[in-house]
Amino acid sequence: MTILVTGAAGFIGSNFVLDWLTQSTEEVVSLDLLTYAGNLQNLSSLNKNPHHHFVKGNIGDRNLVSELLKKYQVRAIVNFAAESHVDRSIHEPKDFIETNIVGAYNLLESARNYWNGLDQNLKQDFRFLHISSDEVYGSLDFTDPPSNEKDPYKPNSPYSASKAASDHLVRAWFQTYTLPILTVNSANNYGPYQFPEKLIPLCILNALNGKPLPIYGDGQQIRDWLYVKDHSAAIREILKHGQIGETYNVGGWNEKTSLEVVETLCAILDELKPKSDGKSYADQITFVKDRPGHDRRYAIDASKLERDLGWRLQETFETGLRKTVLWYLENRAWMNHVVSDQYQDWVQKQYS
Ligand code: NAD
Ligand code: TYD
Repeated sequence: MTILVTGAAGFIGSNFVLDWLTQSTEEVVSLDLLTYAGNLQNLSSLNKNPHHHFVKGNIGDRNLVSELLKKYQVRAIVNFAAESHVDRSIHEPKDFIETNIVGAYNLLESARNYWNGLDQNLKQDFRFLHISSDEVYGSLDFTDPPSNEKDPYKPNSPYSASKAASDHLVRAWFQTYTLPILTVNSANNYGPYQFPEKLIPLCILNALNGKPLPIYGDGQQIRDWLYVKDHSAAIREILKHGQIGETYNVGGWNEKTSLEVVETLCAILDELKPKSDGKSYADQITFVKDRPGHDRRYAIDASKLERDLGWRLQETFETGLRKTVLWYLENRAWMNHVVSDQYQDWVQKQYS
């Protein structure tokens, strides 16, 4: 049988597919619309792998998705497909509503129709695993405990509101139609193949190009940082042993301010790729205008996943960030490929 992975050419989706196929011979169908954030190069090492099939398409295309589900006898859907960048959602929310909400709804309906037609055993084994974010819980105060699965949703950005809406749809399809769903709310991921619009790859790119490292506001916003391969491992475990209808939070127990993240990054770069003038990359840090509605703090309580499924982090922030920086240093061609004219337009719009 096969799993269908949507958004598989994006950052987390591609890491998940690459990791999956090193662990399993179960086939993967990767479905991705190849928006600006999707990059087939992320999956190029699988070009000759007979267990992997790539299809370009939209999660909202019910005919296409229904055909794929039947053709490959899909036994699980892992839904990563989304518009994922908060700053873009502030400039232009439309695509976030279309993909993250309407697209998710259409995907749920395609899954439900297919699942209804399965025989009893296959029906029991089927899973719809939806990937969501810690941002749905909204901004925490500094003294609040980290968010757990029972906390209320208080999304503040168009992005997080659209993810929250999709989580509610997924929950409703379980409660109303008993579609066997699982929801995973994860903290900020970092690692290889992340598009350089997000903080860590953006700062690596700018550091190497001698450009400013833009810190929004006072740089004291806290995020919980999770190495992407620890996330992949959590998803595999949840798919295998997670209880149907449940939500699992995945985090790194690793709260850092934006400024701390960028300073640590600069220290690693100073060591691995010292500047010819002997100065530190930290000299390039520049404080810029804050993001509207910028959430001050996200933090995830991952104890349910640890307690119920035995998942454990494999990377610390130091080891994960070092691996990430090394990957970007060794993959300058990947970076040069994604930095298109369209990307320059975005940088101009956001940072000028
Ligand atoms: P990404 O932007 O790197 O990748 C998203 C992928 O989805 C791209 O390949 C894009 O082409 C594809 N896509 C977009 N619209 C599509 C559509 N309509 N049909 C099919 N494919 C479509 O995002 P990411 O960082 O890899 O995030 C993946 C998922 O994880 C998202 O659902 C996101 O909300 C969630 N998430 C991300 C983070 C993070 O730190 N990056 C944290 C928590 C949750
Ligand atoms: P980001 O990587 O965009 O993820 P998210 O907004 O989903 O948490 O941003 C992480 C943090 O870094 C967030 O607090 C915003 C901040 N940030 C900057 O200070 N400068 C930047 O150029 C970017 C992209 C983010």
